[in-house]
Amino acid sequence: MIGPTSPVPLSFSTRLHRTAMPERCPMRRGVVGWTRADLEHHQRRGGAPGDVVRGGGGLNEPLFGAEPVTVAPGAVHLPGWLGAEAQRDLVERCREWSRGPGGMIRHRMPRGGVMSVRMTALGWFWEPYRYSRTLPGGEPVPPFPRVLGELARDGVAAAFGAPPGPDTPPYDVALVNFYDAGARMGMHQDRDEQADVPVVSLSLGDACVFRFGNTRTRARPYTDVELASGDLFVFGGPARMAYHGVPRTRPGTAPPGLGLAEGRLNITIRASGLG
Ligand code: SIN
Ligand code: MN
Repeated sequence: MIGPTSPVPLSFSTRLHRTAMPERCPMRRGVVGWTRADLEHHQRRGGAPGDVVRGGGGLNEPLFGAEPVTVAPGAVHLPGWLGAEAQRDLVERCREWSRGPGGMIRHRMPRGGVMSVRMTALGWFWEPYRYSRTLPGGEPVPPFPRVLGELARDGVAAAFGAPPGPDTPPYDVALVNFYDAGARMGMHQDRDEQADVPVVSLSLGDACVFRFGNTRTRARPYTDVELASGDLFVFGGPARMAYHGVPRTRPGTAPPGLGLAEGRLNITIRASGLG
């Protein structure tokens, strides 16, 4: 499984560290194909929050999604937005995406540090601090999965009451982040996009403390939000350029049966505006 017991990252280049995504546990293969059914479900919803939003995964999902919480103007947290089956399916997809040509890499920062979070990019390759059409080795970036575009638009509808308008630049990039027990992400802005479109974030696996701050400074005021598996967080409008980060995860809090024994996955879906 992906987690602290993963192979030590192999040196990939002078700029990047790469690691293989560990094998999945064979006991946890039972992914129920929610994609078609759930997308139809989403579409039938007509923009109303509910259904899948409210822990609709069934099985042994004991909780229903809680009410949306506005953390700051333009920033909305929807606990339990993804049901258990959708979460399992996304975990399995993340595992497949991580096996792509880009691998799961720890980026080297411009000042020399290496990120503790491992990530893979879809649609556009991201490295601090720019997007590119190709991977560092020159290969094309894996395509942006349509299911993530659908989820992002549905997430915006659930958070703000309506999906992005027809003239809005499309969602076209996703970063899949993996946090082992010691990983964290410092306070930063998502500022490499050329489009003012809400960022949509999905959490899977271990819970974390997500620190959501202000648009001027990395420091206070900020709000610490607990993001658990299945939670949706959307920030746009006046919150689009807010500093945010993950000061810690909560190892061992992933729901059983998710297919992710350890660690936290985050899928951040954005519109690059790069056309
Ligand atoms: C990010 O800001 O790119 C990731 C946030 C998260 O892991 O929740
Ligand atoms: Mn970010």
